[in-house]
Amino acid sequence: MKKIIITILLLVVVIPLTAIEVSSPNKQLKVEFSIDKGRPAYQLFYKNQTVIKTSHLGLQLINWPDLMEDFVIAGSETASFDETWKPVWGEEEIIRNNYNELVVDLLQTTTNRTIKLRFRIYDEGVGFRYELPRQDKLDNVWVKQEQTEFAMTGNHIAYWIPGDYDTSEYEYNISRLSEIRQLMPKAITPNACQSPFSPTGVQTSLLMKTDGGLYVNIHEAALVDYSAMHLELNDTTFMLTSRLTPDSEGRMARLHCPAVTPWRTVIVSDKATEILASRLVLNLNEPCKIEDTSWIHPTKFVGVWWEMMSGAATWNYADYQHIDIGKTDYKTLKPTGRHAANNENVKRYIDFAAEHGFDEVLVEGWNEGWEDSWQKMHNYSFTKSYPDFDVDLLQDYAKNKGVKLMMHHETSASVQNYERQLDDAYRFAHSKGYDIVKSGYVGKIFPQGGHHFDQWMVNHYLYAVERAAEYRLMIDAHEAVRPTGLCRTYPNLICNESARGQEFHASESYRPQHVAVLPFTRLIGGPMDYTPGLLETDLSKVNPDNQNRIGSTICNQLALYIIMYSPLQMAADVPESYERYADAFQFIKDVPVDWSKSVYIEAEPGQYITIARKAKDSERWFVGSISADKSRRSVLPLDFLTPKKKYVATIYCDAPDADIKTNQARYVIKNQKVTSKSVLKMNTVEGGGYAISIVEDR
Ligand code: NOJ
Ligand code: CA
Repeated sequence: MKKIIITILLLVVVIPLTAIEVSSPNKQLKVEFSIDKGRPAYQLFYKNQTVIKTSHLGLQLINWPDLMEDFVIAGSETASFDETWKPVWGEEEIIRNNYNELVVDLLQTTTNRTIKLRFRIYDEGVGFRYELPRQDKLDNVWVKQEQTEFAMTGNHIAYWIPGDYDTSEYEYNISRLSEIRQLMPKAITPNACQSPFSPTGVQTSLLMKTDGGLYVNIHEAALVDYSAMHLELNDTTFMLTSRLTPDSEGRMARLHCPAVTPWRTVIVSDKATEILASRLVLNLNEPCKIEDTSWIHPTKFVGVWWEMMSGAATWNYADYQHIDIGKTDYKTLKPTGRHAANNENVKRYIDFAAEHGFDEVLVEGWNEGWEDSWQKMHNYSFTKSYPDFDVDLLQDYAKNKGVKLMMHHETSASVQNYERQLDDAYRFAHSKGYDIVKSGYVGKIFPQGGHHFDQWMVNHYLYAVERAAEYRLMIDAHEAVRPTGLCRTYPNLICNESARGQEFHASESYRPQHVAVLPFTRLIGGPMDYTPGLLETDLSKVNPDNQNRIGSTICNQLALYIIMYSPLQMAADVPESYERYADAFQFIKDVPVDWSKSVYIEAEPGQYITIARKAKDSERWFVGSISADKSRRSVLPLDFLTPKKKYVATIYCDAPDADIKTNQARYVIKNQKVTSKSVLKMNTVEGGGYAISIVEDR
């Protein structure tokens, strides 16, 4: 299956060469590298249109002279690469990695130091990075700032969230680049820890659309031992410049040479669906480093969760008070009476999971420490359970029902406390039969200071993933740095949150356009634990004191299982809601979480997305479609089905009178015989959608 062709096409040592051009395998994309008055620069073209105008590259250093100017090209090499590889889980079974590569050797004439710039040119985009060989005046390098430019060709439409060193939990905005400054104050909504840094700073992955109809996504791949990159916009020239995340001392990164930076990526297409189909970010990551991956598996789960999020129950066993882990005798504390992670309630969820075919039950609030979680020094135990949560009893109970429990580690960003306990915590989880850890980093980084997305924290998240692999544990980290395709290398990084997820619907609503932007931005780096499947849109039914409403229809919630790709999918609602909408719930029960093929049928960021996916190892197909800002008619040719086969489609669609404010729970379910020649037509409302499961007609 695996085919690798590497050809060294050319070795040039030409002085003074000032420009080199390399195209993608199908020639539609072209990078032109040049030296512009001693500064390395590049341009990017797609189908002969300029996507990125002359943009400079360089690093400013703290302890050595900068790597910004006085460069000449000392040599260059090009090569071609074509392979296919099989992800452990994913949107498709086989991924092609096909690019042309350009490596430019640069000599800084004033210091006699050399660096390399490596470009990989794909049909749908480019990745490039800095490579620093170890040499005199370039060994242990402190980076003051990376000055990578992306000069845009105009005042594009941007799909953006505020640049922030600590959180990505913002709602997406859609505006012209020139409007970002004026919209920024409103876009910065409150969070437990946030550090916006500029009135025109935005996060990656950033999507833009040009007036000529090109979609351009800027992100990064393989963020390892470096800090996360943001983009600073000059709203007069429309130049975007990299802005790294500082540590507690204001330093951006420390490089132990020889070193490479993460890849800076630009994905371009004139079709929005091709942005969704791109595997560029995954391809730029290293192949899987875990030899035996048999224990890594996609998972569908329910959880003791929404009742706490909606305010009906508590994570903490007792009320807020001083506690000392290891000293406080929890049996002497008076329980709140609303603690959800108790044996009886957890058993109820296990029964529910077993009855409806879910793999696991997440239980949050099972461990000591939630009463005083903000004291931070030693705030949680990850091995001591509350008196009303009996780990062994519940593990046995779950095992007998063929269900697993999912571990939860809220660290409240008290990272030293967590790292000190990490081995014990993972050993405990593994020995008790857990195989997934949902972790969380709510609040300010303690005690180091610094930021959620700085190099030190980036290293922490990966350290946790690597250690977890030793204990055969998968990780789903919340509030961690947004993903950059590392799940290719470490497929036990099964998921991340790292964006505004459905949990925000517990306290406030957000516009339906948000979910129609996420697949073009946040999901470019890897799957998201969005927690779909909230079928009860009236929260007072879960918690009478919560008057909030969820701003989407039930069918929109169903479609998210297809639209928001993840190998880890939660059915986030409480069992009572699923019992209330049992017929719609059937789709959530049926939908798989691992795919052999994905077909991106129609899409416009912020407006609508329709995707069809084929289940791994079966002839079942599933379709999801969402409409965001207005009602629409979706015409769906089923030509992805195998010709001549007969199928039955079960269609879950918004009813004509469905409405995201007043009538979310209106839907129609119908069965229909179909073949690859069928064309289905569905009408959906604002914040609505449809979901279809298609099985062979036997
Ligand atoms: C924030 C996470 O995103 C959420 O899923 C979790 O329930 C809470 N933190 C508590 O850990
Ligand atoms: Ca969160």
